[in-house]
Amino acid sequence: MSENTSTSTGVSRRGFLTAMGIGAGVGVLAGGGGAVAYSKATEKTPSESTVAFRGSNQAGITTAQQNHLHIVALDVLTDDPTELKNMLTTWSQMAERMTQGLPAAEVGAENEYSVPVDSGEAHDLGAQNLTITLGYGPTLFDARFGLVDKKPAHLNPLPTFPGDQLREELCDGDIVIQACADDPQVAVHAIRNLVRAGSGVVEVRWSQLGYGRASSTSAEQSTPRNLFGFKDGTRNIRSDETEDLNEFVWSDEAGWMEGGSYLCARRIRMLLELWDRQNLGEQQATFARFRSSGAPLGTADDPEQEFAAVPFNLIYGREPAIPVDSHVFLSHPENNGGARILRRAYNFVEGSDTFGHLSAGLFFITFAANPDATFIPLQMRLARNDRMNEYVRYESKAIFACPRGLKDGEDWGTQLFNS
Ligand code: HEM
Repeated sequence: MSENTSTSTGVSRRGFLTAMGIGAGVGVLAGGGGAVAYSKATEKTPSESTVAFRGSNQAGITTAQQNHLHIVALDVLTDDPTELKNMLTTWSQMAERMTQGLPAAEVGAENEYSVPVDSGEAHDLGAQNLTITLGYGPTLFDARFGLVDKKPAHLNPLPTFPGDQLREELCDGDIVIQACADDPQVAVHAIRNLVRAGSGVVEVRWSQLGYGRASSTSAEQSTPRNLFGFKDGTRNIRSDETEDLNEFVWSDEAGWMEGGSYLCARRIRMLLELWDRQNLGEQQATFARFRSSGAPLGTADDPEQEFAAVPFNLIYGREPAIPVDSHVFLSHPENNGGARILRRAYNFVEGSDTFGHLSAGLFFITFAANPDATFIPLQMRLARNDRMNEYVRYESKAIFACPRGLKDGEDWGTQLFNS
């Protein structure tokens, strides 16, 4: 299946405004009795790079992972299916515009007596490769909206895993919107304007910012590091691994899920103060990789070896080179019946807890064609045995079914209710 492509030729938000005679502080919006002057562009460099919004799959799954995340889960307040459907239709129109660098809605005849249609904070920034990915939680398919028969096969609440220390207010939700962009404000702007448009129909249940990508989804990207200092995403499924994507990422269920994927999210607090007191040997044994190069233990600590095969059968004296409780031993496909998952995680740091520690961690997102066969058994295995568990705390869980990409002329409302 085709992937949404990134391009730098799209019409930018700034280009759109300039075309309307209101860009770069030179113009004035006509209409009504007043006039709104737009200020000069700030010092920030806009990025005109855009990712196609329509395609067989939604963007934001295998799209080369952008640097910033804002993800929000919402609960639906209304019981009226028409209100829900109309909101989804409006959202797809807004999302398409914003991903192409345009304001959230047609600016039209704004004046000083009207409420601006776009909140404005991404005005000078361009599209920044923004992607907006939508998903539906299990609770959306209860009796409220007549969607019971449309519930996807694997859309069941995630189990509670051993050791979970869940914060209920950060779990689950009726709908999720994941916005990824190369500028944080562009991602925040997208979520804010969609939430604003859904006012009265939905309310925010939880929301999470991620400031640095902690996976790579494209062979062109280098492997980033997580907050434990290790390269993360080395063995991820890449956007050019078509066969594995079709097997492990894209759903083959009929209807709107054909080409969709399940998004599973976990907020994982990382106990940095504890980690930072461990010696390098213990840190490396936790992942079975060298911290510096990302190469597997048992090979050379050399960046050239990052993608080398993991030597599971190598023994040093009486100990295996790859500890059997290490994160890589437990999660490697070879030790999980060949199962793979696509990871799209982000680092986060947000203030501190009340005990004088940084509140930091990894917002783990994975996309799976069948989480019952891949993500859930893997997470169970890690929850029971992972050496890393001593240094982390799983604080949330959520699952959503993300529909396939939109065809030309289609919108999210009609896609869900009519197909
Ligand atoms: C704070 C949480 C986590 C951290 C710091 C972390 C870190 C890492 C690191 C450093 C690697 C090795 C490099 C790589 O191949 O990407 C890795 C691999 C991997 N992780 Fe995690 N991880 C976390 C959570 C999870 C979770 C929750 C899952 C799934 C339930 C998971 C699944 C995997 C998989 C499938 C691999 C690839 C293993 C391989 O094929 O060799 N990780 N992780």
